[in-house]
Amino acid sequence: MNKYTKILAVVLVAALKACTPQPQSTADARVEALLKQMTLEEKIGQLMQKNGDHPQLHDLIRAGKLGSVLNEPNPEKVYELQRLAVEESRLGIPLLIGRDVIHGFRTIFPIPLGQAASWNPALVEEGARIAALEAASQGINWSFAPMIDVTRDPRWGRIAESYGEDHLLNGIFGAATVRGFQGSDLAAPHTIAACVKHYAAYGWAEGGRDYNTVSIPENELHDIILPPFKMCIDAGAASVMTAFNEINGIPATGHIPLLRDVLRHQWGFEGVVLSDWESLTQMVTHGFTPSNKEAAYMAMQATMDMEMASTAYETYLPELISEGRISIKQIDDAVRRILRMKFDLGLFDNPYPFLGDFPPLLAPDHLAAAKQMAMESVVLLKNEGVLPLSTGIRRIAVIGPLADAPHDQMGTWVFDGKKENSVTPLQSLRELAAEQGLEIYYHRALELSRSRQITNLPAIMRDVQRADAVLLFIGEESILSGESHCLANIDLPGAQEELVQRIAAAGKPTAAIIMAGRPVTFEKVEPYLGAVLYAWHPGTMGGPALVDLIFGKASPSGKLPVTFPRHVGQIPMYYNHKNTGKPASDQTWERLDDIPAEAPQLSIGNTSHYLDYGFEPMYPFGYGLSYSSFQISNVTVETPRLKAGENLRVSFTLTNTGQMEAAEVVQLYTRQLFGSRTRPVRELRAFEKITLAPGQQQQHVFEINTRELGFHNPDMVFVTEPGTYHLWVSNCSQSGTQQSFEIIR
Ligand code: BGC
Repeated sequence: MNKYTKILAVVLVAALKACTPQPQSTADARVEALLKQMTLEEKIGQLMQKNGDHPQLHDLIRAGKLGSVLNEPNPEKVYELQRLAVEESRLGIPLLIGRDVIHGFRTIFPIPLGQAASWNPALVEEGARIAALEAASQGINWSFAPMIDVTRDPRWGRIAESYGEDHLLNGIFGAATVRGFQGSDLAAPHTIAACVKHYAAYGWAEGGRDYNTVSIPENELHDIILPPFKMCIDAGAASVMTAFNEINGIPATGHIPLLRDVLRHQWGFEGVVLSDWESLTQMVTHGFTPSNKEAAYMAMQATMDMEMASTAYETYLPELISEGRISIKQIDDAVRRILRMKFDLGLFDNPYPFLGDFPPLLAPDHLAAAKQMAMESVVLLKNEGVLPLSTGIRRIAVIGPLADAPHDQMGTWVFDGKKENSVTPLQSLRELAAEQGLEIYYHRALELSRSRQITNLPAIMRDVQRADAVLLFIGEESILSGESHCLANIDLPGAQEELVQRIAAAGKPTAAIIMAGRPVTFEKVEPYLGAVLYAWHPGTMGGPALVDLIFGKASPSGKLPVTFPRHVGQIPMYYNHKNTGKPASDQTWERLDDIPAEAPQLSIGNTSHYLDYGFEPMYPFGYGLSYSSFQISNVTVETPRLKAGENLRVSFTLTNTGQMEAAEVVQLYTRQLFGSRTRPVRELRAFEKITLAPGQQQQHVFEINTRELGFHNPDMVFVTEPGTYHLWVSNCSQSGTQQSFEIIR
């Protein structure tokens, strides 16, 4: 048999096997049979993951001393690596090929924060399915996503990669991503394994500085940080990645209570746990273990299976075993989980699934899905009748560093997208202009988003003067967010504020389209803008999506998955905060400018706010406008008195009272008025995105189990407490008519 007939045979066998699903016990039996044949060296080899450019990669694979490779996206090279593993190593164990497939592979979808703004889990799932399909076609079988680190800090660069500040949103979108990657059959050639990260609390870094210290009360850890992980695991996630940070003094990679006790024992997770890049040996840098050997010991005790990049396991596990500190059973358990994942992926039956039948990268339906996701992720923050542009507008000034930035519109964590595949807003506008006889006057104005010098200002102003409307494409380049790219100042960078003010002076209808990896603070220039579309980094198809929205082919329907502060100094600002004993209101906000000279200090009537920036955000969580208008009516709590464990049912009617088809995201919030611990002023419990034609109505019922209203009480017991609860059915976290219900004993 030559190489290709051999491959064909393997593929045929795999296809046959795919039709006859393997019972769990068969896979378990095959894992056990293999384990019995493995030497200690081979077992430890399975626990190692190395980068694709590692100089000894081939030798290690041949020797059966490597379980996984990351960052090798070239299918020919992957073929060679798998071939070495399967044909030239003693036991022929295939490799896990990992990659950060974060928001698309070649077809790039909006950054995850933007995807969350769609409030459309079905679209997120479809995006992940397409990302998996494209990645799998190149030989990748393991994605290091979704990242579901709840965060309340827009200074943190990786907020771009999260689904925002709310744990329910992170859980729902994380689970949708897991389902999209893994499908219903992990062994199918088009699916890949998910890796839920970063366990845990990576988004809680002090001051929004990446990798920094996390101090979090135990109850908040369990009520806010961990639930999204549990939701992803319930969705079937094959693996979990530990975090770089420490949590209350213990680094995540050696965190026995979180890994062994919660993840394994409490939740029964039997999948693979992977470290982050060298996070195992960083336990020494943290000042937690005095040596890499002790770091390996702690990670093993915590049931951390696979070490990414560093080499403490291969170097020290043999010693730790011979000293009797680590048992062979512990090693076997870790190897078993890794082999099981390889079996589940179907790799033992077909290590080359990427040789099968795949659509091309960037297939038309992939691009259509990316466009739809980009459209639904955009949030209309302000509109004084400027958008959609009316048909009378023929001459358009297109200004700004992000109108034609094919690389930057893809956003952070793009390893396999190519800028030549991006369609920029300028390209799409020019295409439309050619069809409809519009005139476009384009100026980049700033070389980079952070440039301090506006170029060609006189020419810009001449074109703005002769235009009917101005579209300003401003925001942040992709490199200003992402891993380790945190900011202390989140205002529009460079000379952008000056640019907005200069252009506004011309008095033309002006819409800003802001692309960014985080909420930027732009309160100073907001009054100069007639409309603001927040587009995040919208990905490959950002241009056509934005042009459809700008010209009203579709209405914006995104809602903020994160609070937008007015000023960086207000952070943390989040919707599900506590009431405090002295909550502020408009009446009690003592404004800096109103304080008379030598004002005496008072101790009464004070409330919790800043003299200069008050107490409210610029835009609240859940907020977003539409070109149409909606009314929520007939809100009825159908279960006004119910017992813990029963289902709460709330019905409402949504009516599109405007002039165009559009979607509204209806949100259900509750508040427990009194508890054994104080409860947040609101908590998101459910949501539904509903599309309606003008004049159309739809009834909907939210139904949730009261268990979902629970929290950890002072004894750290998860409880749903009896008492009075308030409830809102609304289109934002700060609106809606208050209703109530009672949970009785
Ligand atoms: C990141 C992970 C990522 C890994 C591999 C690390 O720096 O924190 O999220 O999966 O690199 O690229």
